[in-house]
Amino acid sequence: MAKVSPSILSADFVNLERDIRALVPAGADYVHVDVMDGEFVPNITIGIPVTAAIRRVSELPLDVHLMIDRPIRYVEDFCKAGADILTLHVEADTAENTRAALEKIRALGVRPALSLKPRTPAEAVLPFLPLCDLILVMTVEPGFGGQKFMADMLPKIRTIRGWIDRFRPGCELEVDGGVNLETAELCKQAGADVLVAGSAWFKSPDPAAFAHALKHSELNV
Ligand code: DX5
Ligand code: ZN
Repeated sequence: MAKVSPSILSADFVNLERDIRALVPAGADYVHVDVMDGEFVPNITIGIPVTAAIRRVSELPLDVHLMIDRPIRYVEDFCKAGADILTLHVEADTAENTRAALEKIRALGVRPALSLKPRTPAEAVLPFLPLCDLILVMTVEPGFGGQKFMADMLPKIRTIRGWIDRFRPGCELEVDGGVNLETAELCKQAGADVLVAGSAWFKSPDPAAFAHALKHSELNV
């Protein structure tokens, strides 16, 4: 059974507390927090104070996805703000700084994670796999919710699943972008164990039924 991590990028920001408190009864496993800086991606979303505020209203693990340049500058702040999983992008800095940032996250007692954009080959994460507790495969270009799932990312999910099973069992494999009931099934078949869902979750008239179907999904749901 997969875990589900609703992306609050698609929540109603005026009613963020209401939307976050509704996640537990609906069956969410994590809260996915998308942080964008207007440099690494062409959008600006939320940062450290909002992450800390979310921490105060949820017991769920905070799954913080940093889409920012040179994330090493901010990993300590996000750990202190309450991240439980802190994901940075492999494209966002040098290999040396990426390694140092992942080690720093671990030292602060938070689960380090690494993401890769659609055009980045799977091989880019391999040297860092021993340092990671989660790998996040982007199935849309990062920056915006509501985009179409890129099915050509499925071989990458399968490849990384194989590496995790061989070299880093226990590391989670998360998929982010365009996940709905249909694409979730493809992701799970390819080996994903955590599914991020933004627009599909928050547009659903019945998130509890949606979450149940996503986790246990059958294509005919
Ligand atoms: C995109 C973000 C995603 C986004 C997913 O850059 O990383 O987490 O919110 O939204 P949907 O599920 O609508 O594609
Ligand atoms: Zn995300």
